[in-house]
Amino acid sequence: MSSSENHMTGAEISSFLASRRTTRDFLPTPIPQEILDQILTDALTAPSWSNTRPFKIAVASSEIRERISRDFLGRWENVARQSKRGWIGKLTLLLTRNGLPTSNRLVAKPYHADLKPASMRLGAELFGTLGIARDDRDARDAWWGTNYNFYGAPTELFIFIHKSLGIFAASDAGLMMENLMLSAHAHGLGACAQGAVAIWDDAVRQEFDIPKNYRLLCGIALGYPSEKKDNTFQAHRIPVEELLFKQK
Ligand SMILES: Cc1cc2nc3c(=O)[nH]c(=O)nc-3n(C[C@H](O)[C@H](O)[C@H](O)COP(=O)(O)O)c2cc1C
Repeated sequence: MSSSENHMTGAEISSFLASRRTTRDFLPTPIPQEILDQILTDALTAPSWSNTRPFKIAVASSEIRERISRDFLGRWENVARQSKRGWIGKLTLLLTRNGLPTSNRLVAKPYHADLKPASMRLGAELFGTLGIARDDRDARDAWWGTNYNFYGAPTELFIFIHKSLGIFAASDAGLMMENLMLSAHAHGLGACAQGAVAIWDDAVRQEFDIPKNYRLLCGIALGYPSEKKDNTFQAHRIPVEELLFKQK
């Protein structure tokens, strides 16, 4: 079989890739096991460092999904409540530790100035679509909290990477995740990669047997997209010129 047989054309691939968008509201409809199996099989066709596949996935559905979500939501509600109380709230958080990151503190830190404009633009445009005012802290906190219900998705995938390979493990996981999300898209499902869930790995470790050599990278919410306007949002895509370094 020649390499071009049974493949989409270049134009079809380009259009398919451009049509994938992050889903941020899901129907509760469970994902049929055979579709989930196919998507995971497709994820494993991504290239990998020495073919080591330095990642593993904890698949949370049904009761496990509910328990982890409830745990996350409890922590987030406490963080949001205490953050509004100024230094007393911060002190309470430090003393009680309820909601403090147990992994990936980076997620809770402000963006570097190089990256801040893009993230601010995303926030402004997304909140514009959702009708959330810039200074409405309660509404913004409530929206962020929906991350911890996995935007209603019936299944949350927790992506773990092997600590020994450092950035290369994260790179491999990223390639695998993109294959996974594109396959999901081709099967009529939506997905949302979620850095938001990377901060409390202990809640996931309580439910799955995860060796210490693996650290949590992020989550992926997976399921069938709803018709809600949240899913009409189209994040800005930068032109190629912005991708490239200028020559000296
Ligand atoms: C590693 C990673 C983590 C992300 N974390 C979140 C998240 O926590 N919550 C969220 O709503 N979107 C999250 N996103 C989705 C991005 O905001 C989204 O991919 C970006 O705005 C581009 O939009 P698009 O995927 O629709 O092209 C994440 C994406 C990636 C790749």
